[in-house]
Amino acid sequence: MTILVSGGAGFIGGNFVLDWLDQFDETVINLDKLTYAGNLGTLKELSGDHRHVFVHGDIGDRELVTDLLATYRPRAVINFAAESHVDRSIHGPGEFIQTNVVGAFNLLEAVRGYWVGLPGDEKQAFRFLHVSTDEVYGTLSKDDAPFTELNRYEPNSPYSASKAASDHLVRAWHHTYGLPVLTTNCSNNYGPYHFPEKLIPLVILNALAGKSLPIYGDGQQVRDWLYVRDHCSAIRRVLQSGKVGETYNVGGWNEKPNLDVVHTICSILDELRPKADGSRYKEQIAFVKDRPGHDRRYAIDARKLERELGWKPEETFETGIRKTIEWYLANQDWVGNVTSGAYREWVGKQYEVQA
Ligand code: NAD
Ligand code: DAU
Repeated sequence: MTILVSGGAGFIGGNFVLDWLDQFDETVINLDKLTYAGNLGTLKELSGDHRHVFVHGDIGDRELVTDLLATYRPRAVINFAAESHVDRSIHGPGEFIQTNVVGAFNLLEAVRGYWVGLPGDEKQAFRFLHVSTDEVYGTLSKDDAPFTELNRYEPNSPYSASKAASDHLVRAWHHTYGLPVLTTNCSNNYGPYHFPEKLIPLVILNALAGKSLPIYGDGQQVRDWLYVRDHCSAIRRVLQSGKVGETYNVGGWNEKPNLDVVHTICSILDELRPKADGSRYKEQIAFVKDRPGHDRRYAIDARKLERELGWKPEETFETGIRKTIEWYLANQDWVGNVTSGAYREWVGKQYEVQA
């Protein structure tokens, strides 16, 4: 049996592929464009594993995807591929429309062409799982209940608008053409192999490098954190048992203001890697200009997934963040690989604009 994963060299897709091949003896076709966020170093331990077939390519290349589907005949396609960083979408939304909307459309069309031609049993069993975000629901104020699957879509950033558009395409391909789709909408992930433009890995690596720890605005924006391997287990569960055409929220009930997250990272680093001069990492915190249109609070109600499919996360924020910091301390090779020229150039541009 075979599955096709797109975006499997990124943060969540990479963790998913590693987890999958650790647990199942099933081939994974991994289609990834290797943008700045794609990193084959994440998949290093799979070199020589015949069950992992890496294909360098774009989900928007309908001909390529059609060929891959005809050649490998997967029983499922899981779409992780996307431009994923909100700040980048503010500076340059074009790539987000191209991959997250046009690319998703081309992927859906290639998959539909493949699916209609499958024989009865295979057609019945086939699934297209689209990995999406809680940001499509917009922002919450302090007293609002967490997002359920029934919340209206109210995306606020170019990133979340592009993801919302792709969710709608997926929904329409089911409603109109009968394509057997599943969609997951997950809260903020963290864990190993996270590209250090995102808050948690950026703070860990900046702290260790003696650089400032940039906090947007007042730092009281709330995110709902989930350890990446728990997101992967939720996707596996939805793929296995989710009801076709349904959407499932994924989250770990771990709401935290950004400033608290940064303080937690600083105190774990104080313990694991105390500074030689006796100063504390939190002294590196610097408040910087806020993100334009910054959503104030996200919170996920994951009860549908828990109740209907019996999923539960394994990590609390406290256990997951410690594991994550330990991973970054132990994996300097991977870190060195991502802190390339291109990455430094981006960070320079981002914080110059905000200063
Ligand atoms: P990421 O940016 O780390 O990885 C994206 C991967 O997709 C990279 O390997 C990149 O090379 C690849 N890619 C980009 N454009 C492509 C294209 N046109 N064709 C093929 N491959 C392409 O992203 P991530 O954080 O791993 O997120 C994965 C998915 O999960 C995204 O769809 C994102 O919207 C969603 N999501 C992320 C989070 C989070 O907290 N990171 C939370 C919820 C949902
Ligand atoms: O909610 C799910 C989403 O989480 C995913 O769909 C996105 O792909 C993913 O990037 C993430 O989006 P966020 O914008 O929430 O993540 P980010 O790590 O960029 O920021 C987390 C919070 O920290 C946010 O409120 C902005 C703030 N922040 C971020 C950076 C990079 C800072 O205060 N300083 C920073 O330098």
